[in-house]
Amino acid sequence: MALKANLKRSKNHKNIVIIGAQWGDEGKAKMVDVLTEQVDIVARYQGGSNAGHTVVADGKKFVFHQIPSGILHKGKKCVIGNGVVLDPIGLLGEMDSLVKAGVNLKGRLAISNRAHLLMPYHRLLDGASESRKGSGKIGTTNRGIGPAYMDKMGRVGLKVVDFEDPKYFRAKLREIAKEKNFLLKNYYGLPGINPDRIADEYLKVSHRIKPLVVDTANYLEAKLSQGESILAEGAQGTLLDVDFGTYPYVTSSSASVGGVCTGLGIGPQWLDEIYGVTKAYTTRVGEGPFPSEMDAAYGEMIRKRGGEYGATTGRPRRCGWLDLVALRYACRINGFTGILLTKVDVLSLSKTVKLCVAYKKKGKTIHEFPAGLPELSACQPVYKEMKGWDKDLSRTHRLADLPVETRKYLDAIEKYIQVPITWISVGPDRSQIFQKP
Ligand code: IMP
Repeated sequence: MALKANLKRSKNHKNIVIIGAQWGDEGKAKMVDVLTEQVDIVARYQGGSNAGHTVVADGKKFVFHQIPSGILHKGKKCVIGNGVVLDPIGLLGEMDSLVKAGVNLKGRLAISNRAHLLMPYHRLLDGASESRKGSGKIGTTNRGIGPAYMDKMGRVGLKVVDFEDPKYFRAKLREIAKEKNFLLKNYYGLPGINPDRIADEYLKVSHRIKPLVVDTANYLEAKLSQGESILAEGAQGTLLDVDFGTYPYVTSSSASVGGVCTGLGIGPQWLDEIYGVTKAYTTRVGEGPFPSEMDAAYGEMIRKRGGEYGATTGRPRRCGWLDLVALRYACRINGFTGILLTKVDVLSLSKTVKLCVAYKKKGKTIHEFPAGLPELSACQPVYKEMKGWDKDLSRTHRLADLPVETRKYLDAIEKYIQVPITWISVGPDRSQIFQKP
């Protein structure tokens, strides 16, 4: 233990965690892209192809679902950790399109042998469950994420390591299919699945996956001990975390900081900086309560200005004012050491801007983010209104050049959450970002 602590102190570069502080889509991929310069390895620790990371690099737009966005940086290594549910066929598609775009993947991508596999029946069950719920649906990305994590926790999942033993893989799949087919046919009224056909297809592609498979927990520990540094890349956001989010309108993994250790197999002593990414306003896709949601007309204006459409599903995102009650809660859950504030430029259109500083419920003022769905649904926002600004911020490169109203807005955020804003992003390009002193 003491040895590790010494090694950690002797390194030049810090290990960084990037976590969404809201309901996802905060602009994490861009921050990962910028901060990848400072590390050797980028590692995904949870989620799956429900994530959609958009990065604009050298004029080309890349959308990643499973591969960490660090892959665009020459020489950097990328890890898909055990906490991810891996869609192997989707992954190969992403790899192919990167190679086509001229990205060299050789020796740069490692997949955990302990990651669970996302199978075709997970997608079927996700869609069937959502349709059956009707207006009570979660609004999932339909990628099979919930059913895949259900199988993992229910101890009936298939793992990447199972590709090593085709006989075992096929036999287990046949066993799993019995229960899935019962559910698909008798509960959802859908055709069943053919386990042998799935086994054939998956075992066929497994020869391309197998060379990338390692014990990533061992691999990361070894690299960290040698003084290399990592960036742990979160998907979704704290308010979609299965424990701390707006349950049941959440994803099925641990998107917050605890997921880093369980999803990569490294100890917390390695985590140096934990950055929360938040937009200067709030968005969410899918259903569920959203106390600071803007009225339809204003929300539409922000959606257009901010290009607020899902990278995975294309769905329009719901838009709202920055919710400081929720942000302070995310700061506490994750122990953020700094905030990366994105899309500040999008707010440059208002006479006034608002910050949600409390909730009101039946005349009572609430300062803590509620755990219960009925309570959160009944919460009305209490706003602090501030003078807005209409200057184009997209070419700003230092704090001092921001309008005084914007700086006051940033000060009000910091004062409330008691965590420093360390980076400010004012546009989608890599260059449109600067550090806040
Ligand atoms: P699932 O993760 O597909 O099961 O979806 C559960 C909830 O998480 C839904 O409200 C989705 O819209 C939301 N969600 C999942 N992935 C993302 C993401 O990458 N960004 C934003 N929302 C997401």
